[in-house]
Parts: sequence; structure tokens; C-alpha cells
Amino acid sequence: MSSLNNFYSTTVDTQTLNPPQRLLMGPGPINADPRVLRAMSAQLIGQYDPAMTGFMNETMARYREVFKTQNQWTMLIDGTSRAGIEAVLISILRPGDKVLVPIMGRFGHLLTEIAQRAQAEVHTIEVPWGEVFKPEQIEDAIKKVQPRVLAMVQGDTSTTMNQPLGDIGEICQRHDVLFYCDATASIVGNELPVDEWKLDALSVGLQKCLGGPSGSAPITLSDKCVDWIRTRKKVEAGIRTEAHKDGVEPFIRSNYFDLGMIMDYWGEERLNHHTEATSMLFCASECARIVLEEGVDNVVARHKLHGDAMLAGVQALGLKVFGDISNKMNNVVGVYIPDEVDGDQVRGQMLTDFGIEIGTSFGPLHGKIWRIGTMGYNARKDAVLQTLACLEACLHANGYKGPKGEAVIAALAHYSQASPISVS
Ligand SMILES: Cc1ncc(COP(=O)(O)O)c(C=O)c1O
Repeated sequence: MSSLNNFYSTTVDTQTLNPPQRLLMGPGPINADPRVLRAMSAQLIGQYDPAMTGFMNETMARYREVFKTQNQWTMLIDGTSRAGIEAVLISILRPGDKVLVPIMGRFGHLLTEIAQRAQAEVHTIEVPWGEVFKPEQIEDAIKKVQPRVLAMVQGDTSTTMNQPLGDIGEICQRHDVLFYCDATASIVGNELPVDEWKLDALSVGLQKCLGGPSGSAPITLSDKCVDWIRTRKKVEAGIRTEAHKDGVEPFIRSNYFDLGMIMDYWGEERLNHHTEATSMLFCASECARIVLEEGVDNVVARHKLHGDAMLAGVQALGLKVFGDISNKMNNVVGVYIPDEVDGDQVRGQMLTDFGIEIGTSFGPLHGKIWRIGTMGYNARKDAVLQTLACLEACLHANGYKGPKGEAVIAALAHYSQASPISVS
């Protein structure tokens, strides 16, 4: 401990767990909504208590609304977002099945990695980081590969790009391909009507625009996807009865992520699988409730409003924005680190002097760009303005030669031009 200052900003009180106060303005996680934190501290109830099973059903109904779907099988996977990805991919891909993964950033590589571990035959197409795919590129690759599954990311936080998906479901239906999407970072920050866009499977996480902590992965599955998963049915010994029949296809190579068994647990049979992570169920449910109270479209509009204010601010600060801005996610912006400053020093000072976190970046962008998020509970005017003021101060304290005093003014100007109803 070098000084009192450092003590307050960097250490955790070991007696009472008192993490430092931070404003998390990176690409996620972000500060959880206080209502969500309160929901997580509610007392536990038994797994088969009607209050618990009723609450599970209510949570399914809430996520149907969040996802704009009628899919019956809309439920939670216990684990972080990649648990949702893994559950979907391992359940729909038999060893040897062909999957096409369009890669536009780090998380496309993650889908590839998970599909490889599921022993699928993985085919990829790529665009440079900072770009998105055109529907024709995806259709051409589907024609060539003839995959069983198309697996792609909507908002890839590693590049800040938001892949347009409106035409992709139609293409998949034309070619009899199951369409899976990872929208961990984009859900409710950007439009994603599951049924209208004809998705067969979607998985998300809580720690971005949904305003919760990581640890639960809501998913939804179309009837077509469920019918396919059911062909791989296997019920484990010990709970299996005479009535349970194995599916005709090879069983799913994971017990924990077997979506057939997870559906039997969330469905009417209530067949025991894992012990539902009750506190995360409360948490995920509250995240959805908060979104539905505000209205899904309003939540997306709020992310656009504050994301655009942040964009106006960083541009006025003279920072060059990364990637194709016309396809930028509403909830995160990438900016090039100016040559004359040390990126880690600036981020470090923002954290220790102001308690504000912005994101670094991965792979080819490492050390080149910062990623600044405006999402979930932090998609707010005060959070945007504080971050811009702090970034400007820290840039200039570290030798930046760009404009002074413009960033906050530009963001305020953006807010004053926006419709007053949508400003929150
Ligand atoms: C698009 C996307 N997919 C998957 C993940 C992995 O999520 P988790 O760390 O919750 O497993 C992230 C995390 O940032 C993400 O942005």
C-alpha cells in the first residue's frame, strides 16, 4: 500500500467485502442495476416448491417478451454467456455435422472453437475486424458448404460491429439450415426480434445491456430446433423411467449442457437435472422485468441515444472512431488510442483517479483501440458526461495534443437535439 489514495481506489476490505466504487464504461460487464442486486439477495426456496416452478415459468414468459418470440423453450442456462453458446452448439451439432461460422471478431472465433470441441465439421468465412457480412456473402457460403447450422454473432464487442441479421433467417430457411445467434452483447441494446428474423436458436448474457452480472445465459429455441434436439434424447439413469425412450440420433456429448434434459427440467415433467441457480434465476428474471417495464423498443432507443452521445463526444475530442460506424453497435464505441499517449497510462489514471473503467481490446486491435460502452444501467446521461470529462482530463494529463473542452459540449448538444421523451 503506497498511499491512502491507493488504498481506497485499489483494494478490497477483507472484513466485509467492500469492492471499490467503479463506474464500468467498458464493453461489459457494467454496473448491475440496484434492483437486480436486491433481487439476488432474496432468500432461497426449494427446487420443486410451486413458488419456484411458478417463478421459472414466469421467467420463461418474461424472456419470450424480451426476445419477441412465441418459442415455448425460452429458459436459462446456468453459467456465463458461453455456457449458453456451448449448450446450444453441443446440443444441435452431432460429431461430423457441418456448421458455417462467419467470423467478424473474437467471438466468431469463440463459436468456431466451441463447435470444434463439439467435433463438428467447421467451415468459416471472415471479414476484416471492423466490418460486417453482406447477406449475399453468407448465402454464397451456405450454398457452397451446405451446413446443418449457421452460427454467428450479432454484436461482437471485440470490434463494436453489429451484424445485420434481418435477411439471414430467410436465407437459412431457404436452404434448410438451423440459424443460431450469440447476442450476448447486443440484446436489448440493438434490435433483435427473434420470430420476425426467423432465428432457430439464440443465447445471451446478462452483463451487458440487460443490466445484470454474468452468471446466467437466457436462451430461446424454435420448435424446429427443439424437434431436432429431441432426436438426440437421453435421460440419465437414476431418474429414467420405462416411459423414457432414447432418441434415434447419437446422444448429446455433454450432460450439463444437454438441452433435452434441461428442457425436461424446465418443462412440465420437472425431471431433475442440475439444481437451478436460484439467486441467478431471481437476477435474470429481474433483469427482464426491468426491461419490460421500460419496453424493449424504448430500451434499444435509450442505448442508441446514449451511444450516439458518447460517439459525438469522442469525435469532438478528436479521437478517430474504429470500424464501419454505420454498422456500429449502439452500446459500444471503439476509438484509436492517439499516438502521443500511452494507452495503459490513460486507462489506469481513469480508474485510479476517477474510478471509471473503459475497455482495452483483443487480438489485432490490442494496444490500438479503447472500447467505451454505454449499456444497461450505465446507458445514462450522467454516466456518458462523466466518462467524457474524465477521458478528456486524463488524455491531456498524458500529453494529448487534441481539442480541449469540446467533448462534453458535443454530447450535451446531442442530447438537446434528441427528443426530450427519450432522454433518461
Ligand atoms: C458477443 C459475446 N459472446 C460471448 C461472450 C462471452 O461471455 P461470458 O464471458 O459471459 O461467457 C461475450 C463476452 O464479452 C461476448 O461479448
